[in-house]
Amino acid sequence: MNHHNAPPLSQRLKAETAEQHERMHALMAQGNPFADRESYAHFVSAQYLFQRDVENLFRDPAVKAAVPDLEARGREDASLADLADLGAPAPQQALVTDGVSMPAALGWLYVSEGSTLGAAFLFKEAKERLGLSETFGARNLAAYPQGRALAWRAFVASMDAPALADPAVQDQVIAGANAAYDRFGSLLEQHFSLTAAST
Ligand code: HEM
Repeated sequence: MNHHNAPPLSQRLKAETAEQHERMHALMAQGNPFADRESYAHFVSAQYLFQRDVENLFRDPAVKAAVPDLEARGREDASLADLADLGAPAPQQALVTDGVSMPAALGWLYVSEGSTLGAAFLFKEAKERLGLSETFGARNLAAYPQGRALAWRAFVASMDAPALADPAVQDQVIAGANAAYDRFGSLLEQHFSLTAAST
């Protein structure tokens, strides 16, 4: 089948998960992680567990084939080091991505990689309001060495590869992105101690 007229996967992901992204803003506003370092540590705990779930997928050869520069991505170690900086314990929780494979895995990576764009704003707040930096406490929000824009453009190129042009395959990536947003949302709710009554 010819899919040349179909919208690229990156555009579909952005459009079809926009509401989930809005929900992340709302949860972040409620959790108010830049009020003080203790609140911020709750955010980093959620980030750490999410990054663990994402990096768990890096081991899959099919994921490596889809995203050639995978080695340079992921913020699990950075989050763990930030927790240590903050004097907060590393949370323990079972992985939820053991059953996730391509193409859904790419949706999980999309949510993680996309979050590095919004992280520019969060990094600024962590610096200005909490005195943290890319070497202390806010490593998980720092830009990749090549810069946020270049890293993102390379990832978009992986998503828009011809192998992922089939709309049915794209639907599975989008389902993976929704699952990843659900996971991050639920981690934020747990770690910010938000209840349904306060939403
Ligand atoms: C208050 C917190 C957040 C703010 C202020 C924020 C802000 C932003 C902004 C401004 C962009 C667009 C950047 C650009 O196009 O150059 C963006 C993109 C994105 N953010 Fe967030 N974000 C936040 C939280 C999150 C969270 C928690 C996640 C997921 C865990 C997330 C996932 C994404 C994704 C996937 C994109 C890429 C959208 C696309 O172009 O396809 N964001 N964010």
